[in-house]
Amino acid sequence: MNIEPATPKLGAIVTGIDLNKATEGEWRELYQTFLDRLVLVVREQDFTIPQFLAVAERFGRLVPHRVQRTRHPEYPALTQMGVNTKKSDGKVDQAVFARGQGWHTDGPWEVRGVAKATQLYGLELPSVGGDTWFANMYESYEALPEELKRRLEGVEAEYVYGGRNKSGIDLLAPDDRDAPPVRWPILRTHPETGRKSLYFNPHHFLRFVGMDEAAGGALFEELKEHMIRPDAEYHHKWQTHDYVIWDNRSSIHAAAGGYPVHERRIHWRATMLE
Ligand code: SIN
Repeated sequence: MNIEPATPKLGAIVTGIDLNKATEGEWRELYQTFLDRLVLVVREQDFTIPQFLAVAERFGRLVPHRVQRTRHPEYPALTQMGVNTKKSDGKVDQAVFARGQGWHTDGPWEVRGVAKATQLYGLELPSVGGDTWFANMYESYEALPEELKRRLEGVEAEYVYGGRNKSGIDLLAPDDRDAPPVRWPILRTHPETGRKSLYFNPHHFLRFVGMDEAAGGALFEELKEHMIRPDAEYHHKWQTHDYVIWDNRSSIHAAAGGYPVHERRIHWRATMLE
């Protein structure tokens, strides 16, 4: 197994290993690299669905995603990304096609626990674009002005699926739309590394706890400005059969889009809780 940094501040590219046959020693090294580098890319993997889900269970507690319509019918914990992108009238369903675009952490609305990690497996890729971008949120925290760090101590945000604008809520079954808001502190200490990071998801954001609309709106814009450090980004260019997993507690990501709507971009996806 060979592990190389993808960029100086995050990401690791792993080659020379078949995850279906990894030894316990290799799993320990991969897990430590996941914690240290935030994003692991393992090239040239060959998975069946049960094998893909078995790898997920190495990293956390596997749960079905709240969006039922993209669950695999036999394996509900597997989300199929990029399928059924057309509506019955033949038009592009933007909620499905553009899913994952815009910087976000996964599952801040998750009522079952902390969304620890997400993994993707690239099956079919477009001829151009379709990258996934990642950014290091330890770096974002460390680069915050000291005065803003002090102001953010103890501040909590509430999240619901789709946030204030209910964007993408069409993906949810009607019964799944009324889950209660979930609260997270904006500054979080990683339970395994002990490092502090910024934790913020503008897409699913509802409100800051105990803050009026004007103060909350101003803080929201301020955080959006500080959320991404361009010098701490990794832009992943997919190769077919790449396996990618990220630590959702210390990183933020975005599907970059930028590919023709008639081209296919298919991934298997699974999210694991702590
Ligand atoms: C995601 O946000 O979970 C998916 C990212 C991607 O499709 O690149």
